[in-house]
Amino acid sequence: MIKTKPTATTATIQAEFDRIALVTSAEGWSQNSYYHDFLLRHTPAGCRKALEIGCGTGAFSRRLAARSEHVTALDLSPEMIRIARERSAEFPNIEFHVQDAASSDFPSEEFDCIATIATLHHLPFKLMLDKMKRALRVGGVLLILDLLEPESFYDLLTSAVAYPVCASLRLLKQRRLRPPAEVRAAWAEHEQYDSYLTLSEVRAACNEALPGARVRRHLMWRYSVVWKKVVV
Ligand SMILES: C[S@@+](CC[C@H](N)C(=O)[O-])C[C@H]1O[C@@H](n2cnc3c(N)ncnc32)[C@H](O)[C@@H]1O
Repeated sequence: MIKTKPTATTATIQAEFDRIALVTSAEGWSQNSYYHDFLLRHTPAGCRKALEIGCGTGAFSRRLAARSEHVTALDLSPEMIRIARERSAEFPNIEFHVQDAASSDFPSEEFDCIATIATLHHLPFKLMLDKMKRALRVGGVLLILDLLEPESFYDLLTSAVAYPVCASLRLLKQRRLRPPAEVRAAWAEHEQYDSYLTLSEVRAACNEALPGARVRRHLMWRYSVVWKKVVV
């Protein structure tokens, strides 16, 4: 059974991400940004229009903008979007919107690339797969990175390895072992509502909606889906 919806209301999720945006002063290394290069390797050549759903403060949108003619980036949190706009002044080809992806209809066959990072667990998974699939042009690529619920001994083993790796990378990139206390407190408040899919659940949903999708487990509690739309 797929756990599709978090128990928090949309208003609660928005308020929590507004708080997270305000306490997170710098955009440094994160367990999501670590996978940006991996995702960018799969963006289609000659990408004209890209869409990012749940763009946060826009770090990945700016990287997409460097290889696309135009990026539409949306997020539920007005504070995230305010900061994203401030940090993206040098990228006139990004258009940021405060927008709830769950209640949005995207134009059909519009985008060459759609990316979403650490966001889908806040949204109805299968509904979003269908929406994103429809919004992609033929030849377009869907890129998903999100958090994973452990379901097996192998997942627990991977997690045990991930802790020291993550701490070492944070120390190397940010000169600290853990985020500051106020950032940890904001995330702890938010994470009480978070629920994630298992790899089996992701694979089952992708087999149905995105034939041929490449679903991968990544070390730091994440999975990715890379899917190229070949037929309408
Ligand atoms: C964990 S953050 C990840 C942000 C960014 N993708 C990153 O990797 O840094 C999840 C983001 O999803 C956004 N979000 C949550 N629910 C959303 C919804 N229904 N529509 C649009 N964005 C949403 C949040 O506001 C938040 O910025």
